[in-house]
Amino acid sequence: MIRLGINVDHVATLRNARGERYPDPVRAAELALENGADGITAHLREDRRHIRDEDIRRLRALSAPLNFEMAVTDEMVTMACALKPHACCLVPERREELTTEGGLDVVGLRESLAPHVSRLLEAGIRVSLFIDPEPEAIRTAAALGAPVVELHTGAYALGKEGELERLHRAAHMTAECGIELHAGHGLTYENVSPITELPGLKELNIGHFLISEAVFVGLGASVRRMKDLLS
Ligand code: PXP
Repeated sequence: MIRLGINVDHVATLRNARGERYPDPVRAAELALENGADGITAHLREDRRHIRDEDIRRLRALSAPLNFEMAVTDEMVTMACALKPHACCLVPERREELTTEGGLDVVGLRESLAPHVSRLLEAGIRVSLFIDPEPEAIRTAAALGAPVVELHTGAYALGKEGELERLHRAAHMTAECGIELHAGHGLTYENVSPITELPGLKELNIGHFLISEAVFVGLGASVRRMKDLLS
């Protein structure tokens, strides 16, 4: 069974749009978990545009696994080592982007990433690198000792030709390197099924679509339907 992590960032986006206390991303997390989610993902951005430090502390206090998405900075690594979430997913971050637009440049950043990855691993945190489905990125993730990679499915979700095949090749290579495979970005009810067939896939992290769908059907129903599609 593929695990489903729900990204609650956009609940915080809506809350912050009016400077209110609602909707509460932690309440959304609890509801998602009650309806079959296996874990919660949240991205604490440098500019705190959606999730805030207090949200992360409250999400950490839940009994379910927290996948803490973060940029590779001293500030975030120090915070993660103190917080000790179940997992950290290292992502690229640019202030002006609307979402995580591409995978982490693990090849170019290899030297600077290495001490951060080691520090997180030494703190007992499962490290995941969010990468594009590129052979060199997977080889570098293996060389860095990352136990998990999350493949960026954004280009596939946008319908880019050949992208599903590229994801399949990357999935095979990830398995050959002994790395656990996760995937996410831009996934919906309509496009998720081929992704569930990636060999060795263990986890999907989905946010924007399920939170959007919740406006119409409620979060419990959107999570349950996605869980059904994953089984
Ligand atoms: N995984 C990672 C690493 C991400 O950065 C995001 C987007 O925040 C997601 C998964 C979820 O993407 P989406 O919100 O498009 O479902």
